[in-house]
Amino acid sequence: MHKLLEKLGRDHRNLEKILEMLTNQLDNFYAGKESNFDLKIELMEYLEAFADKGHHPLENIIYAVGMERAPERRELFERLCHQHQDLNRLTSRFRHSLEGVLHEAVMSRAELETQGREFIALQHLHLDLEDREVFPLLEATLTEDDWKRLETSIPRHDDPVFETPDRIRFQNLVAFLAKEG
Ligand SMILES: [Fe+2]
Repeated sequence: MHKLLEKLGRDHRNLEKILEMLTNQLDNFYAGKESNFDLKIELMEYLEAFADKGHHPLENIIYAVGMERAPERRELFERLCHQHQDLNRLTSRFRHSLEGVLHEAVMSRAELETQGREFIALQHLHLDLEDREVFPLLEATLTEDDWKRLETSIPRHDDPVFETPDRIRFQNLVAFLAKEG
């Protein structure tokens, strides 16, 4: 497997870990157990900073080449690019809602939960579709030259939690992951 695809796969495993943490946080919140709002907001900030600004744009660039190599699957690539936009929107909506609740904005618990669950569900569907259909398709259709060109042209965007941890900005998140081991 090409190393760019391996990197995308690694990103996906990390994103799944983040989604699992977010799910646990929401479960705790709705079970009336202790829930860490700072951590929840950092989880969403991480998704905005890395998934929406680094990971998805990188996929979009690779998918544009995929569309040239497998034009018969154009609809699939376009659907995924649209999902990136939807996820982007849902991420910032949910983060704003969390911050609002923290600052005592009026929002029902049910509405907050719906937003969070909807966001997590779409993320899972999206990651799954990419893992199952698109990554194998890219592996089968992109040439060595395509990968070389991509590697030299794509902007570098390090993961601020799993690759080069920003311990100030993601203080709670990095500490939580370190404790988990
Ligand atoms: Fe994606």
